[in-house]
Amino acid sequence: MRILVTGGAGFIGSHLVEKLLAEGHEAAILDDFNDFYDPQIKRSNIAGLQKNAPVFQIDLRDNNAVRALFHREKFDAIAHLAARAGVRPSIAQPLLYYDTNVNGSLHLLEAARIVGIERFIFASSSSVYGICKKVPFSEDFHLTQTISPYAATKIAGEFLCSTFSHLYQMQVVALPSSQFTDHGSGPI
Ligand SMILES: NC(=O)c1ccc[n+]([C@@H]2O[C@H](COP(=O)([O-])OP(=O)(O)OC[C@H]3O[C@@H](n4cnc5c(N)ncnc54)[C@H](O)[C@@H]3O)[C@@H](O)[C@H]2O)c1
Repeated sequence: MRILVTGGAGFIGSHLVEKLLAEGHEAAILDDFNDFYDPQIKRSNIAGLQKNAPVFQIDLRDNNAVRALFHREKFDAIAHLAARAGVRPSIAQPLLYYDTNVNGSLHLLEAARIVGIERFIFASSSSVYGICKKVPFSEDFHLTQTISPYAATKIAGEFLCSTFSHLYQMQVVALPSSQFTDHGSGPI
């Protein structure tokens, strides 16, 4: 299976690419290498992976670039990890977080739909549970106590995922908050 890992040069993404390759999958990396933290760290995260996993330096906010990639390259599944992460910085830059995490995710889902990719994994965040005092968190909780733009963008991403799962032949899993699986079934 050929899997596109967005945010593949980041902390979790680069480990995921390593694991996928070790398990015999083909992997490709999409990342914009932005300067949220030192881009050199991202370059070194994937230094040992690049010979086996092509790297596409693309900003997910650029819808045309995302679509062009999906028309050019074939992927069987997407692990969507690219995001502006972090609660505090999202309070300072809510528009940037919205653009990246909501619009960027939608660009990706729509490109996947157009070329018929049926498997999509979305990296959500436990921050969606906000100030909820009940622990451990449960996927059944109603997400009404969110307190940061970051968390709000992750909830939006989850709902976009569940919508695409419902409307199209797309199996979607959102981690770690909710799971959506099999088109038509909606949130479970
Ligand atoms: N690390 C955690 O503890 C944690 C916890 C919960 C959720 N998450 C989520 O997991 C995912 C990965 O987290 P991480 O810790 O590896 O973060 P990270 O910042 O190391 O990785 C994110 C990657 O996404 C890339 N990226 C950001 N905006 C982009 C854009 N517009 N276009 C293309 N690439 C872009 C960045 O350059 C970076 O390499 C994120 O979605 C994050 O919200 C992480």
